Amino acid sequence: MTRYLSYKFEDSDNFVTTYDELPLWSAQFGLMLLDHIDYKPNQTIVDIGTGTGFPLMELASRFGDSCTCYGVDIWATAMQRAEQKVNNYGLHNVQLVNSSAANLPFEDNSTDLIISNLGINNFEDAPAVFKECNRVLKPGGKLALTTNLKGHWAEFYKVFQDVLNEMNLTDLAKKLQSDEERRGTIETTATLFTNAGFSISKVAEDSFSMTFASGSAFLNHHFVKLGWLGTWRGLLQSTDEVAVFTQLEERLNNLSENGGLQLTVPMAFVEGMK
Ligand SMILES: C[S@@+](CC[C@H](N)C(=O)[O-])C[C@H]1O[C@@H](n2cnc3c(N)ncnc32)[C@H](O)[C@@H]1O
Repeated sequence: MTRYLSYKFEDSDNFVTTYDELPLWSAQFGLMLLDHIDYKPNQTIVDIGTGTGFPLMELASRFGDSCTCYGVDIWATAMQRAEQKVNNYGLHNVQLVNSSAANLPFEDNSTDLIISNLGINNFEDAPAVFKECNRVLKPGGKLALTTNLKGHWAEFYKVFQDVLNEMNLTDLAKKLQSDEERRGTIETTATLFTNAGFSISKVAEDSFSMTFASGSAFLNHHFVKLGWLGTWRGLLQSTDEVAVFTQLEERLNNLSENGGLQLTVPMAFVEGMK
């Protein structure tokens, strides 16, 4: 039990070379994004929060050589991995920019389309990023993004809340709840657009489910450890940590007994026009 509590993320070249299963999570959102954007020649396109180049490489390939595609991220090691992909795929229309999306090295009114797959939940100052996108887009240019919405993994969070309340850790249950409340809705996402001067041009909603054979499998999943475990542990006092996770894991394992642990992920595509 609680093997995942010994997990420690270490950023390295070696880590990013094995990071390619990430798109099994990202792909759900990336496919939605690729379905909804407009495809035209002679476009200048920017992928903000591109990580190791998803969906930048696919965008560059689908838009072709009349378009220039920039990938922007603050994560230098991931950018190096993206550079390897550009070389290995023989792409001539991609440029990588190791910078914050809140400070883009582009002229005013210079780009046609900015996309971001799962970026906004990770930007420290999302309103600043939206304003910066508005600055660099041409009039009529579009910002299109995907994000997971409030209600994400609701089945898991319900069990986590129950465990904290039953252990009389009601303050921690409230902290967990308010952390969940921070996740966006269509309305709060749309407000980020309109506050930055965009009009909403398209909205689409969907959901998918992820199934795990047990709670233990879920909590030990490499991407759960990378993306979420740190936040959950940060909410707990370390003295309660092993007791809480032991209870949580047991409860999730019980819940998984008939058909596995099924978790729902609501997602949205939102596009704004300058
Ligand atoms: C969840 S990952 C998404 C990566 C990729 N787009 C995908 O779909 O797999 C979020 C990315 O946003 C990047 N990021 C966080 N803050 C950023 C910022 N201010 N500017 C640019 N990228 C940022 C992170 O480094 C990370 O690569």
